Amino acid sequence: MEKNKFSSRIGFVMAVAGSAVGLGNIWRFPYLAAKYGGGTFLIVYIALALTIGFTLLVSETAIGRMTGAPSPIKAYRQLKAGKLRFGGYINALVPILILPYYSAIGGWVLKYFYEYLTGNSQALVAPDYFGSFISNPLQPVIFLMAFTGICYAIITQGVKDGIEKMSLILMPVLIVLAVFISGYTLTTPGAMEGVKYYLSIKPEYFNISTVVAALGQIFYSLSIGMGILITFGSYMDKKDDLESSIGQIEIMDTLIAFLAGMMIIPAVFAFSNGANVAAGPSLMFITLPQVFASMAFGNIVGLVFFLLVFFAALTSAVSLYEANVAIVEEVFQIGRKKANHMLFVWTFGIGMLVALGFNVLSFVQVAGMSILDMLDFVTNSIFMPIGALCTVLLIVFVVKTDKIVAEVKVSSKFIREKVYRFLVKYIAAPALIVILVSFILASLKIISI
Ligand code: PFF
Repeated sequence: MEKNKFSSRIGFVMAVAGSAVGLGNIWRFPYLAAKYGGGTFLIVYIALALTIGFTLLVSETAIGRMTGAPSPIKAYRQLKAGKLRFGGYINALVPILILPYYSAIGGWVLKYFYEYLTGNSQALVAPDYFGSFISNPLQPVIFLMAFTGICYAIITQGVKDGIEKMSLILMPVLIVLAVFISGYTLTTPGAMEGVKYYLSIKPEYFNISTVVAALGQIFYSLSIGMGILITFGSYMDKKDDLESSIGQIEIMDTLIAFLAGMMIIPAVFAFSNGANVAAGPSLMFITLPQVFASMAFGNIVGLVFFLLVFFAALTSAVSLYEANVAIVEEVFQIGRKKANHMLFVWTFGIGMLVALGFNVLSFVQVAGMSILDMLDFVTNSIFMPIGALCTVLLIVFVVKTDKIVAEVKVSSKFIREKVYRFLVKYIAAPALIVILVSFILASLKIISI
């Protein structure tokens, strides 16, 4: 067996699910669901995941497997992308830019896990704890270094012995932990109010903002438009059923997001009667430690929760790292080992600037955005929709949908073929343009999503 291939279908599924299930599921999904009407958001999200999300996942994976090219730059070149060739570079740039800031946040998670582990959870309850932690120039950098070092070590082991093995162990553990915490938080007095809020369908929220927010979340959550699926598709065996693998990945990603909502929304309701539940980023690092502290056995719940978040962040960061290794190998024409070294320096170096952006470099701001916000904005709001749009245009106008369909059929029947053909031809590109325009207008504060 080739070294850089997954050894089994389940290995592929777990590795891609590991990439998909990340901070986006656990931290971003619940607050979006709370903000956009609970059950209404869930319905819109699931409908879009099964249609547009599915279409783009299949497209990128099939391109990877068809070309055998681990980097989007090479895949686009092999497909004779012509004028669209820049799309390969955009798809490559996204994981390169996401990894450092994702790792900086991974470091924060590691720090919180460490504090629970060492019995220091009481300190986390102070409302200004998080603020003073990130304003310290040294500590976040140390935890970033540790997080990046763990990613580096896993990548050193390669695709089969590193990523595949890690995902096969951590993903099932992650699901068990998620079921455990959501089950436990439901027993807290007052939690049922939150469950009602989370699951009830509120018709007034069926609107364009909900659709745009759900679409944006689907792209981020399923790691679409970032070259990841092209990389992992190239490691996939021709015999492995592509369609059902993608289906399983979607189910896992949505299940964990749903469970994250179940752990967080009811717990926050029980704690504060619904205040703060849609409070965005501060939810995980400020509100949740307070919520845990108010529960019986809160220290254990907090410990398990941050372990879960750490696993989710780690598997996502490692897959970003792997995509980047393929890109760096291609661009600099160097081997895997050297690429891994270079990426460690890059991730730690830029990640450090992100961390310092909250203290000594806090004067570096563009339009009020910190370095982290800038990287997040450029990657998710601009490059990601453009990268995904290029892939759709490449399929429809250059490669042709027939070829992608044929690639899926190499390994199995294509049950959702008609749906796929329709969506990729007529719906995917307009949807991506809507996302791109909405994100830009939202960042200019012309609309709010
Ligand atoms: N899908 C991840 C999440 O939901 O947190 C984020 C992510 C990971 C995006 C890996 C892109 C990626 F390559």
